[in-house]
Amino acid sequence: MDDLIRSHRRWLKDSIRKKVDWGATGQSRGLPPPPVQKPVPPDARTVALPEPDRFDPVCTAGLLRVLRSRRSIRRYADTPLSLQELAFLLWSTQGITERYGDEATFRPVPSAGARHAFETYLFCRRVETLEEGIYRYLPLSHSLLFEFRERGLADRISEACLGQRFVGKGAVTFFWSVIPYRMEWRYGPAAHRVLPMDAGHVCQNLYLSAGAIGAGVCAVAAYDQEALDALLRLDGEEEFVIYLAPVGKLAADAIGNTGPPEP
Ligand SMILES: Cc1cc2nc3c(=O)[nH]c(=O)nc-3n(C[C@H](O)[C@H](O)[C@H](O)COP(=O)(O)O)c2cc1C
Repeated sequence: MDDLIRSHRRWLKDSIRKKVDWGATGQSRGLPPPPVQKPVPPDARTVALPEPDRFDPVCTAGLLRVLRSRRSIRRYADTPLSLQELAFLLWSTQGITERYGDEATFRPVPSAGARHAFETYLFCRRVETLEEGIYRYLPLSHSLLFEFRERGLADRISEACLGQRFVGKGAVTFFWSVIPYRMEWRYGPAAHRVLPMDAGHVCQNLYLSAGAIGAGVCAVAAYDQEALDALLRLDGEEEFVIYLAPVGKLAADAIGNTGPPEP
């Protein structure tokens, strides 16, 4: 068997836990826990989001219907998302339901050790009342931070996703970056096995909550790492993209038109 395949298979196993020097992790050395959210620049432009008590009217489909019909959707209607709908998608994927001091948070998705090592960036293209551009979700205040706007973002995003045209075409594209130290602080080298599991939970919640508001999603894991990190202005080492997903209202012909599997 190819050595590369063999070494990557090992990475799937929790045998790594036996090799961790548990006295060397940041937590066991008494280092402070890393912040649960990236800092907000003092001159930041932020947008407050509708709170969870306003989500009921937008969630029109029950869980059973959503589960039965869930598919990856790669074609979207031109209809924009409302700010309420976007707020619901953000809250259901990374919102905070309970805080444990400044150290940890609990959210609608589980996370190994409640470390929640992701940040959420959005390319908002068709969201009512929002200017097109790149935003970052601030779960602590349930608000959006406007990051930047540039010409041709939709095309550049789809190029960075190896030419997958539908990626830049959603009303919103979710990008999840990982800040590995948030997980390494507790689990050292065992962090890297659980991070993709955590990412899966987040994206699955996006599929389910999008289904509840009549929108479609397609998970995307195939992209040019360096190009996408550069596009989102991430350093590529302490923070980098791990997963992404465009979302949009269902086009009339979306059913049975879900497109080919990933490249
Ligand atoms: C981890 C993961 C990565 C994926 N990456 C891509 C991708 O890069 N491009 C794409 O078009 N679909 C991608 N998909 C969607 C799959 O192709 C899709 O889930 C699969 O064809 C099954 O279809 P369904 O989701 O409608 O059941 C990905 C799905 C997962 C779970």
